[in-house]
Amino acid sequence: MTTTARAAICPGEGKEFHMAEVELDDLREDEIMIRVVATGICHTDMAVRDQQLPTPLPAVLGHEGAGIVEAVGDKVTVAKVGDRVIASFNSCGHCPSCDVDAPTYCYEFGAHNFSGRRADGSATITRDGEAVGGNFFGQSSFATHAIAHQRNVVRVPDSAADLPLERLAPLGCGLMTGAGAVLRSMDVREGLPIAVFGTGTVGLAAIMAAKIAGADPIIAVDMHESRVELARELGATHTVKAGDDAMDKLKAIAPQGLAYAFDTTGVKKVIEGAFEQIAPKGILGLVGASPPEDMLSLNEAALMGGGKRVIGILGGDSDVGSFICELIAYHQDGRFPFDRLIRYFDFDDINAGIEASESGEVVKPVLRISAE
Ligand SMILES: NC(=O)c1ccc[n+]([C@@H]2O[C@H](COP(=O)([O-])OP(=O)(O)OC[C@H]3O[C@@H](n4cnc5c(N)ncnc54)[C@H](O)[C@@H]3O)[C@@H](O)[C@H]2O)c1
Ligand SMILES: [Zn+2]
Ligand SMILES: [Zn+2]
Repeated sequence: MTTTARAAICPGEGKEFHMAEVELDDLREDEIMIRVVATGICHTDMAVRDQQLPTPLPAVLGHEGAGIVEAVGDKVTVAKVGDRVIASFNSCGHCPSCDVDAPTYCYEFGAHNFSGRRADGSATITRDGEAVGGNFFGQSSFATHAIAHQRNVVRVPDSAADLPLERLAPLGCGLMTGAGAVLRSMDVREGLPIAVFGTGTVGLAAIMAAKIAGADPIIAVDMHESRVELARELGATHTVKAGDDAMDKLKAIAPQGLAYAFDTTGVKKVIEGAFEQIAPKGILGLVGASPPEDMLSLNEAALMGGGKRVIGILGGDSDVGSFICELIAYHQDGRFPFDRLIRYFDFDDINAGIEASESGEVVKPVLRISAE
């Protein structure tokens, strides 16, 4: 039996999201029906709206959903009806990356997350009998109900029963990505300098994680005064206002160079400038969505001679399950206070939430979709 849901439809570039009634398909054996309680808004939703990412529009976006399981397919073991769950990115489970527990680099990542359909091409969402883009990050959670999968859902541990789902929702993308980039992808070592370019959700999560890892100094770079201030409160030892003299200031703070530079801006000039600040054996980690035609220009001798690494990072090399639980535990210890980034919006105010994110006023808008 299909499920009727109320969803926010993204019609395309420059246009506001609008609410509509949609039908969700019957569950497959490895799928999970979630009644969505809350969903974070991430910059990547905007990147799809602006078609920097190839998900066909119109579509139901949203990929930081949390909610209650309403139904499960026969082969689902990760959660049962009534469980509180967080949804994250999806993966195939049988490619060379999934085989070594690196699902963010799934060979079929696009088909499972960005195609607007299930990987087999079938639609999960229809409207008036016509297919609408769905299965975004294996969830499409800007909706009252979402079809997720056995591989992209984690059950909230019983030890976190007191934490509201509306707070936990954004763990499934931006927070996990920033923290994972530091703790997993770059494996930041204690006592070495890191600079984080861009202090939105991903950058601030990286700064909290850099403090957990013991990096020193921890330098936050952004043009928004309020964001670098927050970065300082969350663990940055130094802040630098983005601008022409930013790289000189970094050099003064870390004269031997940066052991780690983490770019969340996706801005070519920032990335190339950051590369020049890398110390021998240093790592430049990249997560930002940039214009698809952008190419980077790096000096080969500097890259080779210093044994430097430039790495693309997806999802902070997270594995969905255990890493999200690890982040919840850091939060409970007071070491990952990501709730300071959140402002809540009613589901109907999704466009206001997006605007608040894009203006820089709110770091992490979270939509309240139903009561827990
Ligand atoms: N690779 C992944 O797995 C992954 C996951 C989540 C998000 N993302 C991408 O990461 C990026 C960051 O996401 P977010 O949610 O933190 O976005 P965000 O928009 O909240 O943060 C980006 C920050 O960069 C700052 N910025 C922009 N230009 C700058 C410059 N020239 N110098 C310094 N700071 C600058 C902005 O002021 C903003 O604070 C986005 O492009 C998003 O699409 C990637
Ligand atoms: Zn795979
Ligand atoms: Zn995201």
